[in-house]
Amino acid sequence: MKPLIVCYSYTGHTREAALRLQSLTGGDLCQIFPRQPYPVSFPQLLEQARREIAAGVRPRLLVMGPGPQPYRTIFVGSPNWCGTIAPPLASWLSHYDFSGKVLFPFYSHCGGVRGDLREAVQRVCPKAEVKEALGLLETETAPEDVLGQWLARNVVQQNGIRGKRDNHGEL
Ligand SMILES: Cc1cc2nc3c(=O)[nH]c(=O)nc-3n(C[C@H](O)[C@H](O)[C@H](O)COP(=O)(O)O)c2cc1C
Repeated sequence: MKPLIVCYSYTGHTREAALRLQSLTGGDLCQIFPRQPYPVSFPQLLEQARREIAAGVRPRLLVMGPGPQPYRTIFVGSPNWCGTIAPPLASWLSHYDFSGKVLFPFYSHCGGVRGDLREAVQRVCPKAEVKEALGLLETETAPEDVLGQWLARNVVQQNGIRGKRDNHGEL
């Protein structure tokens, strides 16, 4: 069965990893965007991110791709924001019941505050089996190798049927 790869990305690093995972697994891709874009100015973005994370804000989303229902294995990607997952991914996760599903978190980071992103995903999805998170340094030169090794370690089927569905919506 094909996996689903879901990602939120602000500057593109997590998205790049999601696209690599898609080509390695033959899975389907779902990209999420906040309906209200985040500020471009870094100090404003940081201030808003801190405020939203502290308050548990779940921003409204635009979703490009399928929902999680038919999938058993789901890769969930986000940048590391302040040691945790970014609010758009938390928002997407909070919309669904992940009973019987296995989630593989992956995230991009700059080598700053580490945080426990596996735990952050588990908190929002208490019914899911959440595997160890893969952190990808944004300057990593061979992310394909790192992703391939991570997939092999986690015994994820890599030869699923390739395919693409365009499902767009809002949450
Ligand atoms: C608001 C904000 C908070 C961040 N907090 C952290 C952090 O706590 N630790 C870290 O290593 N990187 C942190 N970063 C850096 C991002 O995780 C890093 O640039 C990542 O590669 C961005 O992924 P993206 O291109 O998918 O958005 C932060 C970036 C932003 C914008």
